[in-house]
Amino acid sequence: MKNLIVFYSLEGDTKLIASTISEKINADILELKPKKKYHDSGFKKYFWGGRSVIFKEKPELQDYNINLENYENIFIGTPIWVGTYAPPYNTFLKKENISNKNIYLFACHGGGGADKFYKNIKEIIPNNEFKGEIDFNEPLKESRSDILDQIDNWLKMVYFNN
Ligand SMILES: Cc1cc2nc3c(=O)[nH]c(=O)nc-3n(C[C@H](O)[C@H](O)[C@H](O)COP(=O)(O)O)c2cc1C
Repeated sequence: MKNLIVFYSLEGDTKLIASTISEKINADILELKPKKKYHDSGFKKYFWGGRSVIFKEKPELQDYNINLENYENIFIGTPIWVGTYAPPYNTFLKKENISNKNIYLFACHGGGGADKFYKNIKEIIPNNEFKGEIDFNEPLKESRSDILDQIDNWLKMVYFNN
C-alpha cells in the first residue's frame, strides 16, 4: 500500500506536520512549490496571499516527478488561507485527477477554518474515500511532543486501524 504526503507550506507549520507524519508511516512526499514564492512576512503576506485566494489564482508550480496513479493513500496538507486551502492547490487539483484514493486531510491555521477546507476539498475531489482529518493551531509554537502525540493518536484511529 503506497502512501503519498502532499503539502504546501509558506511558513513551516504544515511542513512540520507533513514531516512528522512521514516519520510515522512509510510515505513519499510532494511539496507544492509555486514558481513565484508568496511573500512570507508582514502585511504583504496577508495581502497577496489573501488576494490570491479571493481571485482563485492558479500559481504556476515547480515541476515534480510524482505520478499519483502509483499511490493508494494520499495525505493532503495545507495552511488555511482566508478560511480554505492555499491557492497552490487550485493549480494542483486542476492538473491532477484524484479519484478512488483514500484521502487524509491535515491543516494548519491561526485559529480556525479547517472545516471549510475539508468541505471544499471534498466537493472538488468527491470520488474518494475520506478517511481522516486533523488540524493544528500554528504547531511550530507548540511543544514538539504534544504534536507527536496528537499525530500518533490520529494515525492510530484513522490509518493503522484500516
Ligand atoms: C494569506 C494568509 C491567510 C490566512 N488566513 C487564515 C484564516 O483564514 N484563518 C486562520 O485561522 N489562519 C489564517 N492564516 C494563518 C495560517 O493559516 C497559519 O499561520 C498557518 O499555521 C501557516 O501554515 P504554514 O506555516 O504551513 O504556511 C492565514 C495566513 C496567510 C499567510
